[in-house]
Amino acid sequence: MSMRTFRTAVVRSPGGPDSIEIIAVPVADPGPGEVRVAIAAAPVNPVDLAVADGLFHATNLIDQPEHTGLGWGFAGTVAAGGTGVDLAVGARVAGLVDGFDRDFGTYAEQLVVPAADLAVVPDGLDLVSASTVPLNGLVAAQIIDLLGDPPAHGNRVLVTGAAGAVGGYVASLAHDHGWEVTGLARAEDEEFVRGIGAGFTTHAEPGWDAVADAAVLHEQGLALVRDGGVFVGVQPGAEPAAERGITVVAVVVHPDGPRLSDLLTRTASGRLPARVHAVVPLDQVAEAHRAVAKGGVRGRYILKP
Ligand SMILES: NC(=O)c1ccc[n+]([C@@H]2O[C@H](COP(=O)([O-])OP(=O)(O)OC[C@H]3O[C@@H](n4cnc5c(N)ncnc54)[C@H](OP(=O)(O)O)[C@@H]3O)[C@@H](O)[C@H]2O)c1
Repeated sequence: MSMRTFRTAVVRSPGGPDSIEIIAVPVADPGPGEVRVAIAAAPVNPVDLAVADGLFHATNLIDQPEHTGLGWGFAGTVAAGGTGVDLAVGARVAGLVDGFDRDFGTYAEQLVVPAADLAVVPDGLDLVSASTVPLNGLVAAQIIDLLGDPPAHGNRVLVTGAAGAVGGYVASLAHDHGWEVTGLARAEDEEFVRGIGAGFTTHAEPGWDAVADAAVLHEQGLALVRDGGVFVGVQPGAEPAAERGITVVAVVVHPDGPRLSDLLTRTASGRLPARVHAVVPLDQVAEAHRAVAKGGVRGRYILKP
């Protein structure tokens, strides 16, 4: 009997884009409550560049003896369901796998995940667009949880990196929670930032009630928060030290099927942006990583296995 395998991109000895290898690994069957998804699209995100560079191996967050999987978000179709799963084979779904220390990822032909982490992709939203939502949509929603409700005496939030994936979602969603949003972005991003309903600046002065730091400005971002305000960072463990009575927190994204479902509905109706820069075959993963590393790319590179 021949072993069934599928192709997946991993790093064995991390060292940048050229260290990414495509290997064949055995197919796994879904257990109770799990689903095997045939992946149609998986976006390249900044975290994947950091994993391939070995950043998290160096800090011992990754300790995989054989190889480390790449990719967090995905969209595809249900290939098989375990017991207790009510998703039909062929259903269009999107989802997120989190955590750094894993030997599998979404840069793959298939993936076994808990059904609870999946959301059905609404009709009218293509799988490539849907794949851009799970990581950065969920982290933005979770950043807004950390921002909390705006205090009575001040609701001005500055979103740094508002033209990026995380910042764009935070700037879109924070408004619904009572925040008055201004996006800090490059001059050429003004149209996009204003288009999602936020104010725009290329240079912020201090005094904001809250800063959501999607551009990872760290201390420079913290300096923009008023005394007693809130700072939400995106790199846990690397957030700046608290000062001046400021609440400093950092987000750690986690899967959430029901919430992803809401984000996908908003994307399908055009209330949230879905930005795709290019769709490339999985074999071109190294080129895609190199292009993203240069910076300035708006919208995601999407890998198609
Ligand atoms: N903690 C978590 O769970 C979690 C989850 C998801 C993402 N993240 C992190 O969140 C960060 C953002 O991710 P992303 O996908 O949104 O990245 P992205 O799409 O590359 O967006 C970052 C944006 O910030 C802009 N930027 C950088 N420095 C700036 C400055 N000084 N002024 C104005 N704009 C500036 C960039 O512009 P240029 O391209 O022109 O430089 C880009 O538009 C990454 O570090 C990612 O790893 C964390």
